[in-house]
Amino acid sequence: MDLILPEDKPVQPHPEPHNFFIWGATMSGKSYFSSFFPHPLSLNTDGNADQGTTPAVQIRNVRGTDGRLEVSAIEMLDSVVTQLQAGQTTFQTVIVDVIDDICVMIEDAICINAGVQALSDIPYGKGYALFNTILQRFVINLKALPMDVIYVSREISVTDESTGSTQLKPSLKTKYYNIVNGNCDLVIHTQKFGTETYTREVTDRRAAYKPENITNKRVRQLLESCRNMFPVNTK
Ligand SMILES: Nc1ncnc2c1ncn2[C@@H]1O[C@H](COP(=O)(O)OP(=O)(O)OP(=O)(O)O)[C@@H](O)[C@H]1O
Ligand SMILES: [Mg+2]
Repeated sequence: MDLILPEDKPVQPHPEPHNFFIWGATMSGKSYFSSFFPHPLSLNTDGNADQGTTPAVQIRNVRGTDGRLEVSAIEMLDSVVTQLQAGQTTFQTVIVDVIDDICVMIEDAICINAGVQALSDIPYGKGYALFNTILQRFVINLKALPMDVIYVSREISVTDESTGSTQLKPSLKTKYYNIVNGNCDLVIHTQKFGTETYTREVTDRRAAYKPENITNKRVRQLLESCRNMFPVNTK
């Protein structure tokens, strides 16, 4: 195969976000907001899928009576990715709801297969290495699809002992957050105030996106509903 090189001149960037990280407390509207993206498919872990309208695949580790894995979450994710790669689907958005649980399931599957309690029980750091490879492959494969990808994560509050101030953060462990987020373009925080007020705010972005560069009208409208998405000075 002859790879065709581009012309040697600067290209005009048209940055458009396709990979999203949405985090927030439980019942703050993460799944609800995600469900409005075009033609969504949810890779669901919490069994809440029945409550929404989004078509969903339940991801889990299925163990037989002997304790061995009959089907692992890793195999289920592989199967989903392979089918999406084959392109015979009308889905346009993949929602990983929630990525925190997917990480725990991958860890569990590795541990059950190795007959150990924790990744750290697998010698020479091989457990961690295997975990990183599997998570990275999953994220990179999803990113390569011609679809939008949304990772949903829960929220934790961290209190700084010295100042007493409390900060809200995604609950995904930092090292996993870095793998996932290294492949995301926008980070959105959902919050619920009182019983009926739902807000969404962009807390991180890869580039200063412009409304006119968001090609899908529906996605543009959804992003316009997030505070801090298009700060006035970037227009
Ligand atoms: N922007 C909104 N406007 C009106 N209702 C909303 C909005 N966001 C969420 N809701 C309502 O709140 C409920 C809970 O939202 P949702 O299921 O999206 O929460 P979640 O953050 O995914 O929670 P969990 O972490 O428990 O899965 C939904 O069933 C929906 O009816
Ligand atoms: Mg949810």
